[in-house]
Amino acid sequence: MAPIASSAAGFDPRALRTRFPILDRKVHGHRLVYLDNAATTQKPAALLDALRSYYSNSNANVHRGVHTLAEEATGLYEACRGRVARFVNAPEERAVVITRNATDAINLVARSWGATLSTGDEVLLSEMEHHSNLVPWIMLARERGVVLRHVPITADGQLDMAAFASLLSRRTRIVALTAMSNVLGTINPIAEIAEAVHGVGAVLAVDGAQSVPHLPVDFQALGADFLAFSAHKMYGPTGVGFLVAKPELLERMEPVAGGGEMIREVRLDWASWNDIPHKFEAGTPNIADAAAFPAALDMLEDIGMASVRSHERELVGYALDRLLGLGWLEIHGPLDPDRRGGLISFVDPEIHPHDLAQVLDTLGIAVRAGHHCAQPLMRRLGVAATARASFGLYNDRDDVDALVDGLVAARKYFGVA
Ligand SMILES: Cc1ncc(COP(=O)(O)O)c(C=O)c1O
Repeated sequence: MAPIASSAAGFDPRALRTRFPILDRKVHGHRLVYLDNAATTQKPAALLDALRSYYSNSNANVHRGVHTLAEEATGLYEACRGRVARFVNAPEERAVVITRNATDAINLVARSWGATLSTGDEVLLSEMEHHSNLVPWIMLARERGVVLRHVPITADGQLDMAAFASLLSRRTRIVALTAMSNVLGTINPIAEIAEAVHGVGAVLAVDGAQSVPHLPVDFQALGADFLAFSAHKMYGPTGVGFLVAKPELLERMEPVAGGGEMIREVRLDWASWNDIPHKFEAGTPNIADAAAFPAALDMLEDIGMASVRSHERELVGYALDRLLGLGWLEIHGPLDPDRRGGLISFVDPEIHPHDLAQVLDTLGIAVRAGHHCAQPLMRRLGVAATARASFGLYNDRDDVDALVDGLVAARKYFGVA
């Protein structure tokens, strides 16, 4: 594979684009400007090759065969676990449960660790959570009479840390927070929060769906107990996600799905569980996509997560300047690029976000419009929807300029002076 060309940020986004076949395509006759990376990222050719190679050479079921293909498939599947453990500095490979996505990982924590909670126990969340980190806890509250509390956000879209301190108490059993908001871009001070959470004897579950793809994340340094994320937001395939957890907690947890793979012994009316992490992976897993995912991790490791962050920090700083420079947009979230990841949610008060996204699409620019699976946050912000541009490794200033030109064109199209 050709080396990744160097630039100030450590690599050249334009050179990187050539590795992503989809970025060659035209949309409505225009170059595709893909700014929906927070929803899912595009996939490098190396990942597509790894998928084809898996099915062409090694396809078999895992963990239960002695033939060559079964051993190869098992090796590839388990290699994914090992690579992910290394990528986030998990204490051991056993600390990594392979799930379907971040949502699945959060549900596992809510259902399994959540089953240790009783009526009146509290779960502390925040106003900026994605539905994936709200609904599993709402389900738990309905089932077990658990009380949900929410840390409010400040006017500039940061966690209100004073309110956090007063909401955290000995009644709190679980704190579940996003490390980076998919709407505001806010990066939350997870390490500081972890200390406070452990101080009251609670556990901290971190939604890393947006942070792990874009920031250097060291699970052990973070001090969290659980960390959930999805491969598809990391230039990897859909259908694979991860729960990284302290092994001693996984040991104490009950499985939430039963079936093959997760058992040690089964009788007609009784069963015992496999070791961690396998006791949480019932049934045939998504072997092919897990086997292919290391091809995406190769790319991220080759670039280095510090360079990924510095590229996106630079780009979001430039984008904030250009978007604010238009003079008419409402921009949500902190304006300091050090406090936010590479995404910006905005509203043109004269044009509905869906209309805006549609006009941008006619220019080949893909942004997301809607509630971004964060309806409570939309209510808190007093908007029904926003448009959101979210950056990836292959985006550069040209893409931001195209977005800004598109926003000007949309005003012309709708006859807004
Ligand atoms: C902050 C956050 N949490 C959780 C999720 C859910 O991820 P997935 O749909 O891959 O499970 C997303 C996806 O957009 C997200 O942005």
